[in-house]
Amino acid sequence: MSAQIIDGKVIAETIRGEVKAEVEAMQAKYGKVPGLATVLVGERKDSQSYVRSKKKACAEVGMTSFGADLPANISQAELLRVVRDLNANPDVHGILVQLPLPDHIDEEQILSAISIEKDVDGFHPINIGRLSMKRREPLFVPCTPKGCIELLLRTGVQIEGKQAVVLGRSNIVGLPVAMLLLHRNATLTICHSRTKDLPGVVRQADILIAAVGRAEMVRGDWVKPGAVVIDVGINSVDDPSNPKGYRLVGDVAFDEVKEVAAAITPVPGGVGPMTIAMLLRNTLDGAKRAVGME
Ligand code: GUN
Repeated sequence: MSAQIIDGKVIAETIRGEVKAEVEAMQAKYGKVPGLATVLVGERKDSQSYVRSKKKACAEVGMTSFGADLPANISQAELLRVVRDLNANPDVHGILVQLPLPDHIDEEQILSAISIEKDVDGFHPINIGRLSMKRREPLFVPCTPKGCIELLLRTGVQIEGKQAVVLGRSNIVGLPVAMLLLHRNATLTICHSRTKDLPGVVRQADILIAAVGRAEMVRGDWVKPGAVVIDVGINSVDDPSNPKGYRLVGDVAFDEVKEVAAAITPVPGGVGPMTIAMLLRNTLDGAKRAVGME
């Protein structure tokens, strides 16, 4: 039997509608709308495209977006000044520094300079630290991991007591999503490039989060029948039959795994749209805190 396809586009659209309604309520009651600042350094095509999508999504829900497009050779001191100016701007409720940054920039220092009240990416060491401890509340949770959990919740997947396997241990997805699963009482395994018998470990998963960035690495026989599979990967592979010359695939071999899993996210149209929806949600939450809206 073929798996239920978890439609991230539809779920993200619902969330964007919810956010839009709250933005309108804020505008009516406080005469203010949330503002998101995106900081882009350099000319990476993928980063430019992500930032464009984020700004467009802001406009669609009635938020203001502020953009800083900076040259790749910007100095650490200048970039710090940009972040501090945004911290001081009362119309900015969220600050997102698009990663990766050029090699000469000290990423940790830049992320640490963002006000924790405006850290809509949730990457500030205090927010990540709180996420990593029991009974601590980060002001923001990173968007892609939060989107993965939201997909599970809105699909009615029970997390508590389930065997969850996270494939990948990045700061942006693997580590924070593992923390979120643990807080929801999953039994957790994190796999990485040194894991022995990777297929055997992945096969134990009731819930599998694949976030390694390797095209179609997870095969059909790696997956336990009835598992729920969330595919975070966005990999470009050559495809001469496609007018663009390439197509996007996940970390999971979709056609094989959908015959085994109970539910699976497609790529594109699964986790991707959720990241932006969660960014809007975080920005709205930051703005609500700033104006004192319940
Ligand atoms: N680069 C890849 N994913 C992300 C993300 O979620 N936030 C930021 N700031 N940069 C990224």
